[in-house]
Amino acid sequence: MDAEEYRRRGKEMVDYIADYLENIRSRRVYPNVKPGYLHNLVPDSAPLEPENWEDIFKDVERVIMPGVTHWQSPHMHAYFPALNSYPSLLGDMLADAINCIGFTWAASPAATELETVVMNWLGRMVGLPDDFLHLRSDSPGGGVIQTTASESTFICLLAGRTEAIRRYKERCPDLEDAEINSRLVAYTSDQAHSSVEKAGLIGLVQMRYIESDDHLSLRGDRLREALRKDRANGLIPFFLCATLGTTGACAFDNLMELGPICKEERLWLHVDAAYAGSAFICPEFRGWLAGIQFADSIAFNPSKWLMVHFDCTAMWVKNSNALHRTFNVEPLYLQHENSGLAIDYMHWQIPLSKRFRALKLWFVIRKYGIKGLQKHLREGVRLAQKFEALVLSDPRFEVPAKRHLGMVLSMYLFTYLYNPATLKFDCVLTILLQMPYFCTRVRKLIYFTLNIPYLCSCVLIES
Ligand SMILES: Cc1ncc(COP(=O)(O)O)c(C=O)c1O
Repeated sequence: MDAEEYRRRGKEMVDYIADYLENIRSRRVYPNVKPGYLHNLVPDSAPLEPENWEDIFKDVERVIMPGVTHWQSPHMHAYFPALNSYPSLLGDMLADAINCIGFTWAASPAATELETVVMNWLGRMVGLPDDFLHLRSDSPGGGVIQTTASESTFICLLAGRTEAIRRYKERCPDLEDAEINSRLVAYTSDQAHSSVEKAGLIGLVQMRYIESDDHLSLRGDRLREALRKDRANGLIPFFLCATLGTTGACAFDNLMELGPICKEERLWLHVDAAYAGSAFICPEFRGWLAGIQFADSIAFNPSKWLMVHFDCTAMWVKNSNALHRTFNVEPLYLQHENSGLAIDYMHWQIPLSKRFRALKLWFVIRKYGIKGLQKHLREGVRLAQKFEALVLSDPRFEVPAKRHLGMVLSMYLFTYLYNPATLKFDCVLTILLQMPYFCTRVRKLIYFTLNIPYLCSCVLIES
């Protein structure tokens, strides 16, 4: 394909994408296919001879679309949202063309510097204290774009582990790292996302799941009790992952209680706000962030609710030196004349290579402005309130946990026999069976998120 054909095909592709998104509500959200469907539609081996673009492009509708779950559809209410937007798509189109692998400042100064700038913008937009921002060249705080919230939790757990081992070795220099590691304990609530469990699993540390309160929130007294018991058994508490906006019910851990305990007990406090973090752009939702001054790190996904398409996880730390100590290997061939004078993001992440993700975030923030993003977030919450009212007005349902932001949990009550014919959804929902903390009362727990930009009230009524 030469530049001339690329221009023509690129315009066709942009038209196809705009048509796809404009008309997406007419597509069935969840594909009607069985495992292996695609294998029957394509040859077993790759083509020996080049193919025509027309033939390749025709196969998008024939082969791909029948097996796509349409996450951008206004009828998609499952999981948390994963929204995109035209400015975001354009940002990645350019980033993909530039295709710089910005592991160090020298590998692409614009990629590194734009990332530090937009992470400062976004940090201020959600109300983070200045300690989390890149303010001076020698300031240890700052933001970085990671691939996922899971990876951010793992990175922060590893940084916390490095710091704990370092501190412990100052007191007991004869102990081996592995010996200290075997006594480390991390904490989280019983509502935390599975990625926290995974972080402990691959970080080779014990993970303690503390029971949340009646509002599904992790409280200080329960953390204190768990720490006391573990210390009495000779273990070394080192890390707490608190959640703002849990996956199960969008509940919030109490940072005002947990934060001072973590400071006192020298635990690295990481805040996982994967979904709810975007909402903090609106000052009225920032109450849940109270206590963030005690945290060491926080991450949220603009790739969920902020219309910056996957992948894009915003993560901030107060002390990037801990990341450096964890990830710094600096081989000779990656050093440059400005090493040490500029940020080299390879020391802030697990992989070496890094995509130019800041462009799509920059485009989205500029094209919508803070006001436009606030309007979008508030609209998601308004629709969730409306849906909640509809559910509450139907005697077959109950709302078992307080609605927060754009997520509504509803229960189909036992007294009504579940009949798919009378309870039929044309949209895709997450129906959670027997969630442990509700299972005594629930037959079907329905999990509904409302944050789709194309969603309008009439679609909601239809659903
Ligand atoms: C609270 C929470 N943490 C972490 C994750 C995992 O996010 P990611 O897919 O970015 O790793 C999710 C996913 O929805 C989540 O809700």
